[in-house]
Amino acid sequence: MRKSIDLIGDIAIIKFHNFYPFLFKKIYAYFFLKKHKEIKTILEKTTDIKGRLRRFKTKFLAGENKRETIHKENYCSFYLNVEETYFSPRLAHERFLTAEEISKEIKQNSKILVMFAGVSPYPIVLAKFLKNKGIKAKIISSELNKKACVYGKKNVLLNKVQNYVEILQGDSRKIKTKEKFDIILMPRPNLKETFIDSILKYGKRGTLIYYHGFGVKEKVLKEVRNKRLKIIYIRKAGDIAPKKWRWLIKMKIL
Ligand SMILES: C[S@@+](CC[C@H](N)C(=O)[O-])C[C@H]1O[C@@H](n2cnc3c(N)ncnc32)[C@H](O)[C@@H]1O
Repeated sequence: MRKSIDLIGDIAIIKFHNFYPFLFKKIYAYFFLKKHKEIKTILEKTTDIKGRLRRFKTKFLAGENKRETIHKENYCSFYLNVEETYFSPRLAHERFLTAEEISKEIKQNSKILVMFAGVSPYPIVLAKFLKNKGIKAKIISSELNKKACVYGKKNVLLNKVQNYVEILQGDSRKIKTKEKFDIILMPRPNLKETFIDSILKYGKRGTLIYYHGFGVKEKVLKEVRNKRLKIIYIRKAGDIAPKKWRWLIKMKIL
């Protein structure tokens, strides 16, 4: 009947098989809404995630006709617009694992760069972890999408981590900084470009990198092959389609 469903805040986004008529989708949405009292809006996902900003289009099916919501995960809240800003609720566990691991490795006053940060879920989940442990750090949250940065700024205040996170709007490859970071997170878009050269520019000897790669494991290992990068481990970090994986590679700059 339906291919997939994502619950983002109080919005349900449903992807149907193509052959169902619109009226059927409306009726399905109506009953879905009746059954799930916490959901206020049902949208149909009408395109795949596309372009540099990784966005998709939707069609309104039932409830309140809106695209903006607040999503809660890992004791954090995120304002976002489901059509204008990338956000995947499926990455919640991954954000937890990454934040937990970094919070064990990190030293006081470390400098952290989160590239491709979207509405800032990685920086904020990490900042909350560090704040709870009493560890001070400076986290730069870099994102190209102007609207995502507006939400990011709101989210920093909403989660009371303004002493930790600074939002920088612009291309993550061209950040105007002389800073050399201790930790770099790259939850990068699933595009051909790997952005590997940028991490060497922002890092120094000993910098830890958390890099996302997509597809076959061998291909991902090949794209990070560089004599200045030592791979510490590679593990699955969720799927992007049936039997297609996102990988997390932890590396160190030599
Ligand atoms: C896969 S999404 C990850 C978003 C976020 N890390 C999250 O977990 O929700 C990739 C993000 O990279 C952004 N992006 C694409 N190219 C970029 C670039 N050159 N510089 C900065 N951000 C970019 C997109 O707008 C998108 O928000």
